[in-house]
This record gives sequence, C-alpha cells and structure tokens, in this order.
Amino acid sequence: MSRTAHETPGVPEPRTAAGKNVVQAELAVSEPVMGRPAVAAADLAREGYLVYDPGLADTAICRSEITYIDGDAGILLYRGYPAQQVAEKCTFLQTAHLLTTGELPTGAQEERWLARIAASTLPANPVWGPLFDAMPAGTHPMAMLAAATSVMTSLAPDGASAIEQAGFDLLATMPALAAHAFARVEDRPRRPYDPSAGYVENFLHMCFGDSPVATDPAMVHALETLLVLHADHEQNCSTATLRLVSSSNAGFFSSVSAALSALWGPLHGGANQAVIEMLQAIRDDGGDLGKYVAKAKDRNDPFRLMGFGHRVYRTFDARARVIREVAREVCGKAAHDPLLDMALELEEIARNDEFFLERKLYPNVDFYSGLIYRAMGFPVEMFTALFAVGRAPGWIAHWTEAATAPERRIGRPAQLYTGPATRDLQF
Ligand code: SDX
Repeated sequence: MSRTAHETPGVPEPRTAAGKNVVQAELAVSEPVMGRPAVAAADLAREGYLVYDPGLADTAICRSEITYIDGDAGILLYRGYPAQQVAEKCTFLQTAHLLTTGELPTGAQEERWLARIAASTLPANPVWGPLFDAMPAGTHPMAMLAAATSVMTSLAPDGASAIEQAGFDLLATMPALAAHAFARVEDRPRRPYDPSAGYVENFLHMCFGDSPVATDPAMVHALETLLVLHADHEQNCSTATLRLVSSSNAGFFSSVSAALSALWGPLHGGANQAVIEMLQAIRDDGGDLGKYVAKAKDRNDPFRLMGFGHRVYRTFDARARVIREVAREVCGKAAHDPLLDMALELEEIARNDEFFLERKLYPNVDFYSGLIYRAMGFPVEMFTALFAVGRAPGWIAHWTEAATAPERRIGRPAQLYTGPATRDLQF
C-alpha cells in the first residue's frame, strides 16, 4: 500500500470512529484502468466538506492516459509500455511521438514526424543571440530556459494548429536553448544548430563541438537513454504546475516556462545538481558517509540525502536501476570519478538501514544521473536543464490532454482557513 494521508507527516490524523467530527457519506467511486480508485470531492462538497491534502499526495487532479506509475512495484509505463523497454528499443523522438500521440510511429509517420521537427525555424531564430548575451553572468541555466521559453510565445505562430506546431517547436528548440545556456555559463561563442544531424548528436555538438563526447556512440546512447527516461512522470510538481497554469488559458510556452521554474527546485528536478553538490561536500568534509547518513536520520537536522526518496515510489525508482548501469558504463570510460564510488556506497548503506527501509527511501532518478552528466563534461548547473530537455515531450502531452479535457476548468484550489474570525476595527 502506498503511503496515504494519515502516514504523510504534517497531514492531521483523520478522526477515529471514537472521536468527534466523524462524517459518513455515500461517495461514488471512479475506477481507473490501473491504480487506486477515487471518490469525487464534489460528492463531499455536496455534504459541505472539503478534502484536505496539502501535498496533493492523495488527490487526483485529472484523468490521464499518458503515463502510469505503480510506486509499490516500481513500475513506470509510457502509454502502457514499460519505460525501461522504451529506453532500450526507442529513440527519444520516437518516445516523444508515443507520449504525445499515444502510439509509436510507423516508418512513414516517423519520417513526417522528424521532418516537422527539423522544419521548425525557432531554434535558429536570430533573437537567441542577443537574449542569451543579455543574461547576467552567473544566471542559472534554468532561469535562462524559463525566460527563453516565455519569449517563444511571441515567436511561435498562432492559430488552430498552434499547439501541434508548438509541440514541434519546443522539441526542436529545447536542446538549442540548453546549448545556448551552456555557452553563456562557459562565456564562450554559441555553436550553430544543425537539424541535419541526429537529435542527440546535434545537441552534444552544440555543447561540446567536435570533442570525443559529441561523437562517441556510447555517450550519444547514454544521453538518449537519459532523455527517454526523463520524458514523462505523471503529475509531478512541474507537470502539475504546467496543467494549473494552462488552465487559465495562459498559453503553451508560458505554461512550459512555469514548469521549468517548478522543475528547478532541489526537491524536484534540481536534485540532480544537489546530489553532486552533496557528494562533493561530503568528500570535502573528509568523506565520512556514516556522519552524513546520521545527519539525514536526525529529525533536528535539515540535511537530506539528495537523490533519495520519492512521493510515489516505495521501492527503487523504475528509472534509477537503468541510470545506475549507464553511470557505471559512462563513468568507466571517463577518468575515475570518486563520487561514483561514494554514491554506490551510500546506496548500499541506506539500503541496509532501518530508517530508510522503514520510510521506503530508495535512490530516485536524480541520484545517479548527475554522475553521467558530470562524466560527459557538463557543469552541475546544467544538470536540471538536461532534465528539462528530456521532459519536453511529457509537457507537450499533458498540455494537449489538459487543453482538450471535457472537464477542463480553471484550477482554483480551496483552503482550510485558520486565521482570525470576523472582527471589527476598534477605532
Ligand atoms: C524528482 O514526483 C515526481 O515524479 C518527480 C520526479 C519526476 O520524474 O518528475 O521523479 C523527479 O523530483 C525526484 C525527487 C528528487 N528529489 C530529491 O531527491 C530530494 C530528496 N528527497 C526528499 O526531499 C523527498 O523524498 C521528496 C521531496 C522526494 C519526497 O518528499 P515527500 O513525499 O513529501 O516525503 P516527506 O518529505 O514527507 O518524507 C517522509 C519521511 C520524513 O521522515 P519522518 O517525518 O517520517 O520521520 O521520509 C524522510 C522525511 O524526513 N525523508 C528523508 C528523505 N526523503 C524523505 N530523509 C532523509 N533523506 C531524504 N532524502
């Protein structure tokens, strides 16, 4: 059983039958294809009640056909296919076709799909040069991506086919924007976008020029695998943010910009950067892993083991096992990285420690991915931007699904008011 409200810290225990404030109501149950059934909050509202669920851990905000996670079994499905199989057998753009259309492309469909992405004019738009040059030194790549995607609203065509074209524009442009952000971080000239090259090859060339990492098939395959495994993940914080922002008809690229800002947080996509910074801090402090595991277990200590734990997974994150093996391969080709040894040892310690086992805290997608990006030569501040390049297909799929949902309405959550009762000014 995954953790329900009464097990989630900070959420009040429901009243027991022996307590007061117990309500009984007849609630209609909605049965999903897979996963927990739901009762409609509207039925509780008719009884005069709200649902209180501050982290939305037990609240379904929509119906979705795109991705399914079984957190207890560590299963991740992309339109019904296990993500590990998709990562093994499909390219990132085939995965994007699967997530956004519901099926993998046939030969002719794939050619048309690739042609539409290559035909996008946005990656080479002359606006990017002045825009990225204007970014102040030290600007984080996620801030650059949030700004640039917001600007895409004024560059992309409007009209009926807008969302389909916007999806192609985003898939084509995200790698270019990430590469431009990397150039700004390194304060060096940007490299040209080359749609005739492979999607991943073009991105690595824009980032590293003709250096071996951009031409080594093992590195290309490693990044392609990472992009596929990051492509979607149900109603995570940034995708739910995208849906909420899109519900005000704010527009596709504005919704993506908001999702990028949510993904940046170190509890979410920013964790891949935080994991490496944590390992470096432990190494610089003498490398005593036991000391930091003890800090993570100390409730009076704010230190968390970054890259561990997940809102949904109660076992290994379906993606982490694959990414761990890719990390071994890629790090094995690069100069030895002591941080990989530390990560593997940390995983071993945590997997044999009651505190982590009891709370079902396992390595998540971010625990090993940063080691791969580091071995490729990316600076830590680029890691979450790489996560974002992978997540673009999921954002396109969810935006499209939300835009066409029959029960679409503006998102406007309620609250439990705990402030002062009505009172009059006494002057
Ligand atoms: C991603 O949602 C998604 O799908 C996201 C994602 C995606 O693909 O989009 O999978 C990507 O964001 C992965 C998660 C990356 N974040 C991190 O690695 C940051 C470290 N992890 C934690 O901060 C935490 O585990 C979260 C944020 C991931 C989940 O937080 P929850 O579900 O709110 O869990 P919680 O904070 O309520 O923790 C429950 C218990 C607490 O202890 P008790 O109060 O029961 O004593 O577990 C403890 C927590 O203190 N705990 C940790 C811990 N994570 C939870 N203790 C030490 N180290 C940790 N990492």
